[in-house]
Order: sequence, then C-alpha cells, then structure tokens
Amino acid sequence: MAAPFTTHHLLVILSVLAACSIVSNAQLSSNFYDKTCPNLQSIVLSTMKQAVINEPRMGASILRLFFHDCFVNGCDGSILLDDTATFTGEKSAGPNKNSARGFNVIDTIKSNVEASCNDTVSCADILALAARDGVVLLGGPSWTVALGRRDATTASQSAANNQIPSPFSDLSTLTSMFSAKGLTARDLTALSGAHTIGQAQCQFFKNRIYNETNIDPSFATSRKVNCPFTGGNTNLAPLETLTPARFDNNYYRDLVAKRGLLHSDQVLFNGGSQDGLVRSYSANNGGVAFFSDFAAAMVKMGNISPLTGSSGEIRKNCRVVN
Ligand code: HEM
Repeated sequence: MAAPFTTHHLLVILSVLAACSIVSNAQLSSNFYDKTCPNLQSIVLSTMKQAVINEPRMGASILRLFFHDCFVNGCDGSILLDDTATFTGEKSAGPNKNSARGFNVIDTIKSNVEASCNDTVSCADILALAARDGVVLLGGPSWTVALGRRDATTASQSAANNQIPSPFSDLSTLTSMFSAKGLTARDLTALSGAHTIGQAQCQFFKNRIYNETNIDPSFATSRKVNCPFTGGNTNLAPLETLTPARFDNNYYRDLVAKRGLLHSDQVLFNGGSQDGLVRSYSANNGGVAFFSDFAAAMVKMGNISPLTGSSGEIRKNCRVVN
C-alpha cells in the first residue's frame, strides 16, 4: 500500500531541492585548477604581459570584456562566442559591436593553456584571470580570482542590449542596473574607476562635450579637436586625461575637475549621492581606498551567476560552442 503524501514528504522533497540548488550554486575557489592545471596563472600572466607590452590599451580592453561578460547572464564566457549563420550572440549587440576588443588575446591565452592542460580550463575563467592581470600590469591592485566557472552554451543578444549600461545613463539608472546584479552604488563608483585606463569613441562623448554644462570648458575645447560636431564618430580619446595608460585614482581627479569624458562618468560627481566617495577616492592618499574597493568589487562582479558543477561546458575554442 502506497504511503499517503504527508507534510513530512514535502519537507524531504524541499530539503533535497535545497541541497541541489546549493550544489548548482557551488562556490568558486581559487585553487580549483591547482591539480589539473598548475601552470594556469603563469600562462595567463605571461601571455597578458606580452599583449600589454605590444599595446598597453589591451589591459583596458580585456577588463571591459570581463565586465560585459559578467553583466549578461553571469561570467560565463558568453561574450566570446562568434555569431554564425544560425546564431546571433553578444558580439554584435549594441554595446559590443565595433567596440569590444581583445578577443584575439583571449584566443592566444586559451591555446597556450590548452597546450599545457587541454579540455580543463573554461574561457570564462581565462577571462577573469586575464582581466585581473591587465589591471596589475598597468599598475593597479591585485586580487585573488576564484575559479571554477564553466562556459555557456548559449548567449543572449537582447540581454546584452538591455543589461549593459549606456554611456548616456543617469546615476539612478546606473545604480539600478548595478543593483540588479547585486552590486551597490559604492561598487558602481569603484568599478567605474576602470575608466582610469582605455579609450572611448567620439560618438559616446560628443553630446557631452558639445551640449553639457557641467564640464570644464578647456577640457571640452580640447576634446572637440578630434571629435568634430559632424562626423569623426569613431575617433578615440582617452577616458582619463592625466595618466590614461596607468591604473591609478586620476579618474576621480578628472571627475572632481568636471573632466569626466562620458556622461555616465560625470554623473558620479554632479551633486548626487556619490560625490563624497568620488572626492575621497580622488585625494592624495585616496588611491589606497580606491584600490581596495575596486579589488573587492571585481571579486563581487566575478561571482555573478557562474555556471558550475555540470552546468555549461569547458569550451575547446572560446569562439564556438563544443
Ligand atoms: C558604469 C557604467 C559603464 C558605462 C556606461 C560604460 C561605458 C563605456 C563606454 C561607452 C566605453 C567606450 C567604448 C568605445 O568607445 O568603444 C567604455 C570603455 C571602457 N570601459 Fe566602461 N562603462 C561602464 C562601466 C565599466 C566597468 C564597470 C568597467 C570594468 C570594471 C569598465 C571598463 C571599461 C574600460 C577598461 C574601457 C576602455 C576599453 C578600451 O580601451 O578598449 N567600464 N565604457
């Protein structure tokens, strides 16, 4: 005779389900590949070193790739997938198209890693390590990268279009888009300090330099030279004016001086809730707090919904699903 279904049965089922969900949310760990790929970290670092020597901007480009990966369905390497005749992924989404770069460097790291330990390390983890190394190589803080992410077998162009903030966003939009990823306003302000390195295209700051008023006039004039009112949309300018190839706290000095390049940069210092934090990061010794907040926020960003356990796969080629 079958036992009647009781509350006890329900509790057993619920606790089994809870245990499963803990397993599928398994924590990442810094020693994940210690046995299976002991040279992983030195392979990533040496390949990044060469890439940054060839072109310092590459440290910035890879850091941005990681941000755009993590903000779209978690840090799962989905941004690395190429579009095909039957698959439209994230590379051709608005925030990435003709803008995201550094894919060849990730390919080089992946093939160097495969040569040492094949079918073992995910592209998502390679990107997480490469982003950290790029920051370090340009003079920024270091942090321990937790590992064990697996690679997505899908990607979402619409999520990339909707969940990566636009440079025309106001502070409230930025705050809520970061909050949707479990990141605080403080994380937003610290992570935006990534714009201490790298470059932006004229089309993303044209409105700011021609139409906005909370901008240092001599800065606006100097940026107009290479960003004409008509045309020049892909011309580049450094995101930070003083030391654009060095990871330091000068981004915040720019903001305090109304020299933020993007609208989304200057909103962090425009009479709102982040003014005090920006001012403190900009101080002579403010780089210490910035570095430690940035590193902590990168760890948090790197933990956004990873695929772990038997979810996803270890891609053989970062550009294509196995
Ligand atoms: C807060 C919202 C953010 C907005 C609206 C934003 C927007 C942008 C835009 C429009 C560019 C220039 C792209 C181009 O011209 O092709 C850019 C560049 C960059 N972003 Fe952000 N970003 C944000 C946050 C972040 C975060 C959180 C990071 C990393 C932690 C980051 C890292 C970078 C880097 C390093 C570059 C330079 C890339 C290069 O030179 O190739 N950004 N961002």
